[in-house]
Amino acid sequence: MWTSAAHENKAGSAGHGSTPLTMTDELTGLPLRARRTSPCDAPLKWVISECCNLPERERCRIISVRDKDGTGMKKDRFKEQFAAATATAFQQVYSKQYQAVGTAQIFDSDYVYRNLEKPKDPRMGRFAFPIFRYATLLGDSPGRISSKVAAVTNEILWSTGTNVRLVESMAVKGFLNARVDFAALAEETIGEILCSGNHYGDSDEGAGRKYVIDYSSPNIAKPFGVGHLRSTVIGNSLRRIFEKLGYEVVGINHLGDWGTQFGKMIVAFQKWGQNLTLRENAVEKLYDLYVRFHEEAEKDDSLDEQARAAFKALERNEEQAVDLWERFKSISLSEFEEVYRILGVEFTSTTGESFFNDKMEPVIERLQKAGLIKDSQGALIVELDDPQLPPCLLKKADGATLYATRELAGLVYRWESYQFYESLYVVGSAQTDHFKQVFKVIAMLEEAENLPEPQRMTSRAKHINFGWVKFGDKTMSTRRGNIIVLTDVLTKAVELASDRIMEKNPELFGKEVPIQTVLGLRRPTAVMIGVGAVLFSQLSVRRQKDVNFVWDEVLNFEGETGPYLQYTHARLCSLMRHYGGEIASTVDYSLLNNEEEERVVELLADYPQSVLDAARNYDPYFISTHLLRLAAAFNKVYQRKDAGGRIDKIVSNNKELSAARMALVKAVQIVIKEGLQLLGLQAPEEM
Ligand code: ARG
Repeated sequence: MWTSAAHENKAGSAGHGSTPLTMTDELTGLPLRARRTSPCDAPLKWVISECCNLPERERCRIISVRDKDGTGMKKDRFKEQFAAATATAFQQVYSKQYQAVGTAQIFDSDYVYRNLEKPKDPRMGRFAFPIFRYATLLGDSPGRISSKVAAVTNEILWSTGTNVRLVESMAVKGFLNARVDFAALAEETIGEILCSGNHYGDSDEGAGRKYVIDYSSPNIAKPFGVGHLRSTVIGNSLRRIFEKLGYEVVGINHLGDWGTQFGKMIVAFQKWGQNLTLRENAVEKLYDLYVRFHEEAEKDDSLDEQARAAFKALERNEEQAVDLWERFKSISLSEFEEVYRILGVEFTSTTGESFFNDKMEPVIERLQKAGLIKDSQGALIVELDDPQLPPCLLKKADGATLYATRELAGLVYRWESYQFYESLYVVGSAQTDHFKQVFKVIAMLEEAENLPEPQRMTSRAKHINFGWVKFGDKTMSTRRGNIIVLTDVLTKAVELASDRIMEKNPELFGKEVPIQTVLGLRRPTAVMIGVGAVLFSQLSVRRQKDVNFVWDEVLNFEGETGPYLQYTHARLCSLMRHYGGEIASTVDYSLLNNEEEERVVELLADYPQSVLDAARNYDPYFISTHLLRLAAAFNKVYQRKDAGGRIDKIVSNNKELSAARMALVKAVQIVIKEGLQLLGLQAPEEM
């Protein structure tokens, strides 16, 4: 049985320098392989019988604070064992220094735990502790420290029955590296995944903290172009990632619904749009008017003047202008909503720039009071104390406010409304200077007002920039005015996906009932895959890099694509359907013993770290590449040949082996599905 005594032993051994105790199983009297700390860590039989009777959401989540690491995630048991042994070894070998420095730093197992690194090469083990840094502190050479500490650590790891062993060769280089017994890692990892399902990798580091994420944010009366696709996809994924880490996320769609262009729209509509039927393709028709305005304005100077007057009327809230503007807005919104529905994207709030019309003046007053505003030939500007940045223009000489003015009001509003932990703006690199200016103005304001640190928000506001989307193969026509319309791209993707399914699985094709979508009548799986291909294409390179969109590549079922991951998922589901038996985590993990399986288990174990990396870098790319690696590694297991050159089938006559491999299959399926959902893609069970 597991008693609280076990916890005390653990605390005693890890924290205060006594030699860790070996615990024994009360029933058998045998030494336990490892210390257990939570229901999740309990022997798997216990987990299955007790833990899994809980409702789905609660499974494996009864972990106390002390069982969590600094990121709010469940502690890695092996890492803990290694850190405890290393810390104890330091305390023993360098007891004199220990007394001098106290429990600080390296002598503390928590410190070691937090400072463990991951070797790039998996053959160098799962964890590494860089020792060479402590030479000065300990007054010894790195080589001597390594060999002395390694010897004692090794002894502790052996005598306490852990599943962790040192990679001896590394000590020479000033590192302590450790590898984990593979069967133990498989049991721990697969057991946890099967038990926690889609909660695997969850954390509560974000408890009580809010993220505000501004994404998508297209412009009213223009078609939704690929220009706004990447923001939509990255932002939507970041939203899901931060939610997984326990943050509350406020997703904001900051529509471009204000500015002088609406004066042009009003004039164009009054002149040429009165008789248009706007039941279908309304946004496209509105945009045609806008393009026409620019063409005609080349020939007729008075048009621009009329547009300025129309915008003034809108600013003065005159009924006719406001009615038209409202109409443009609702037409656009209903089309955008269709797009979001098919992409599976949601927002907490959709507030356009116009929402801030009455919120700019108080901010301008604050800036004025702080003495930051200058008059420049009738215009209001803030000169920035950064030689790289031009002044921030707040009001033109005619009194008109600007994009940046609304941005400032928006940031202040978000800070006051949400008290965010961080506020992210997922916007292309073209607006880098805009955000630098806005954040600088706020920094100068907070400085001038001498606000105490907790009331300052500047360092919490971040521009999450990204590169361009290039249609390298030029097969996408830019209809009207240079915009590549997103629904055109999606339609083509879904059509291509349809063709592929018809080729590969005509039975499924025949079975499915088409549904009505913004792309016409379409089969659900084709939509999942076509849309998935487009979504994934946006996340398959680091966000700062440009995306080269090439049709043959994004829809390649064998390439580094969304459809490849979806196809792998469907194949895993098919294996599970055909297996017939029940898949449980109570299997003999020592049967998973080939290199290919080992690689898969390691990638499963490392998945939570990739989720964290994605959050730390504000880049879902860390998850998309992790999934690609996992799928590739699994496909190697799937295609593995035995010594005789025949495919080493996952399910064979060997019942025990098949059961162990199916536990692995299910774990991979769970992680791929969960990863896809973090990226915003669906995971089909058949395709
Ligand atoms: N509507 C703007 C554009 O298309 C993007 C807005 C991004 N969000 C923001 N808070 N500035 O360029």
